[in-house]
Amino acid sequence: MAIFTHLAGLGPALFALKIMSNTILVGSQWGDEGKGKIIDVLTGDVDIVVRSQGGNNAGHTIVDGDKKYVLHLIPSGILRKGKVCVIGNGVVIDPVALVEEIQGLKKRGVKVDKNLLISENAHLVMPYHRSLDEIREALKGKNKIGTTKRGIGPAYGDKVARTGLRMADLIRPDVFKEKLDRRIKENNALLKGLGGKSINGTKVLADYVKAAKVLKPFVINTVSYLHKAMEAKKEILFEGAQGTFLDIDHGTYPFVTSSNTTSGGACTGSGIAPNRIDMVIGVVKAYTTRVGEGPLPTEEEVLGDMLHGMGREFGATTGRARRCGWFDAVATRYASLVNGVDELAITNLDGLDGLEEILICTGYRIDGKGKVLDTPPSDAGELARCKPVYTSMPGWLTPTDKIRKYKDLPGKARRYAETIAKLSGAKLSIVSVGPGREQTIHL
Ligand code: GDP
Ligand code: IMO
Ligand code: MG
Repeated sequence: MAIFTHLAGLGPALFALKIMSNTILVGSQWGDEGKGKIIDVLTGDVDIVVRSQGGNNAGHTIVDGDKKYVLHLIPSGILRKGKVCVIGNGVVIDPVALVEEIQGLKKRGVKVDKNLLISENAHLVMPYHRSLDEIREALKGKNKIGTTKRGIGPAYGDKVARTGLRMADLIRPDVFKEKLDRRIKENNALLKGLGGKSINGTKVLADYVKAAKVLKPFVINTVSYLHKAMEAKKEILFEGAQGTFLDIDHGTYPFVTSSNTTSGGACTGSGIAPNRIDMVIGVVKAYTTRVGEGPLPTEEEVLGDMLHGMGREFGATTGRARRCGWFDAVATRYASLVNGVDELAITNLDGLDGLEEILICTGYRIDGKGKVLDTPPSDAGELARCKPVYTSMPGWLTPTDKIRKYKDLPGKARRYAETIAKLSGAKLSIVSVGPGREQTIHL
């Protein structure tokens, strides 16, 4: 993969180093960092793109000329000819939604056949998972998580409880029917207990058997496939979904998703050992966004109003307005540690083009008092009490969306990008100044 890098201290773009690698790309904030766009850009240089966790709670946007695509389950490499996309064992798949996504892409002229592979070990999201997601959120009232209501939490819950159904079951109709009957009984009792509506097992069977017919040709042992591909020196890009602070272990629990969104999740969710990974790229927005509930220390309504006024920062999956805030370097530095981030891609730099002054959070103080913390507290309640300690930088007040070379960016924009990369403890490799493929600056 061509990541253009430079010798420390000798200035940017001195020479370009071509790195042959298995690379993990992760979100270093709260999701929606622009992972889809960066994956699409980098896919030009790799052979295979793998999703390893999450489900159709993800919404990854790719803009190719005047066409915009939002991918939920299918890896963001699908638009590139000759690339193979793999949905790994760690993903939870709603088969009906996946069929819709495949058909939607095909209708738009995108090839989806032998270039898509699905793990037989991937778990299924079932209609009762969606119902449980919805009803549990409603029961939580003001303490709700603000989930995407795609059934993700209950599906991973069944996986961990060893009561889940998998792709391997779905493509074997007799096995599926028998297992489904038992699962419907148990989940209908649960739904009834929670005051919800029961699920019609006959309809679920019919819908899922129909989806299975479409999906069966894609289903294989993806672990074997990926290891053979590595033996054949193919290059693999692992596409993270969600972001570090939505990770079930490292995020702002309980306001998180139900998978490991950090780099370790790419290994367990694909069957590739950590020692086969050559590089980790972290993606950050030049500011911070979050959709759903939970602490967001640098949240700033005025910034949100400005970005929403520009028609930006509405969720790609649910359409909800994203909460917005200043860049939080306490969070991204922690994300670099947890993920082992080597290289940093900064997106949406152009979103700050109109600002005279830009703030960067470099520390937190609980209740605005006491010593400055340089690590986010693990407890979500404590994090919610954290007040940011800011450093201020001058804005560049110049449009950047048409700039293609790093040296052509305004000096103040370069200083901002370099400062947030340094504070995040990672090397700056990519700066994105617009949603389009071409609006990407490689250092
Ligand atoms: P993902 O979930 O991480 O793939 O990110 P989303 O697609 O949910 O949200 C990122 C949004 O920012 C999408 O609308 C992208 O098209 C858009 N985007 C990505 N990079 C840039 C950029 O550099 N500038 C602008 N203006 N938009 C960007
Ligand atoms: P991408 O891959 C941003 C958030 C939801 C909610 C929490 C739990 O596009 O970055 P879930 O439905 O997963 O149980 O919801 O996680 N969330 C995301 N936020 N981007 C995403 O994915 C997200 N996927 C889930 O809003 O707060
Ligand atoms: Mg998204």
